[in-house]
Amino acid sequence: MVDQSLLENNDQGLIIRLQGVSKGFNSSGSRLDVLKDIDYDIMTGDTIAVVGASGIGKSTLLNIVGTLDKPDKGTLYFKGKDVFSYNSDQLAEFRNRSIGFVFQFHHLLPEFTALENVMMPSLIKGEKRVDASENAVAMLIRVGLKERLRHRIGELSGGEQQRVALARALILRPAVLLADEPTGNLDKRTSEKIHALLVELNLELGMTLIVVTHNIDLAKLLKMQLTLVDGRLEEGM
Ligand SMILES: Nc1ncnc2c1ncn2[C@@H]1O[C@H](COP(=O)(O)OP(=O)(O)O)[C@@H](O)[C@H]1O
Ligand SMILES: [Mg+2]
Repeated sequence: MVDQSLLENNDQGLIIRLQGVSKGFNSSGSRLDVLKDIDYDIMTGDTIAVVGASGIGKSTLLNIVGTLDKPDKGTLYFKGKDVFSYNSDQLAEFRNRSIGFVFQFHHLLPEFTALENVMMPSLIKGEKRVDASENAVAMLIRVGLKERLRHRIGELSGGEQQRVALARALILRPAVLLADEPTGNLDKRTSEKIHALLVELNLELGMTLIVVTHNIDLAKLLKMQLTLVDGRLEEGM
């Protein structure tokens, strides 16, 4: 079991600390240092935009913060706990309960309905079907999809699919929502709606929000803007 305190979503203060985080890749015989000794503290409820050139390492950074990838060096603390000290089962449980992900390409299950996709994390966690369904319906209504509950993913527009992805990411009320170019393949008007929704949900649910984006309008909606340059985080954009 993961420490219960890690799964609660109500404390103030420091939530994530990156300490000396470095990550590189070896490809075709050469070494690429993508993240270089990054130190950064994130407070509960913060909203942070991460911008930077394509290929600079934004997704690499987000994946490490989301514990999908491990740093080569350095430590990721979540509420003071070094989460990479967990074994793989504990880490998976922690991730399922505490972190929500939204990607540019939503990774929804196309053969299933919106409702089934949003229920999935609750079912994995072991909740009763009836409870999972009730919560998922409420979350889908919250993101504006009341009339789309039984639609299969392929029957939905890009913006609707991204709303489903958002509902699925938030269904377990994660302490942290990580979004990697969430509106990268949506038109301007649809993007603006999703951006507004992200900000509203942050205010309502109090989750910490970290968004990788190329969209300057979205970045400006968030409290903090960071630019990844040469393996380091700089304030501003
Ligand atoms: N698994 C991997 N193996 C080798 N190189 C990788 C791997 N993942 C990412 N990279 C390289 O690391 C750099 C940063 O990638 P990424 O974090 O995806 O950038 P961004 O999200 O800022 O566009 C890129 O040059 C990319 O090719
Ligand atoms: Mg990327």
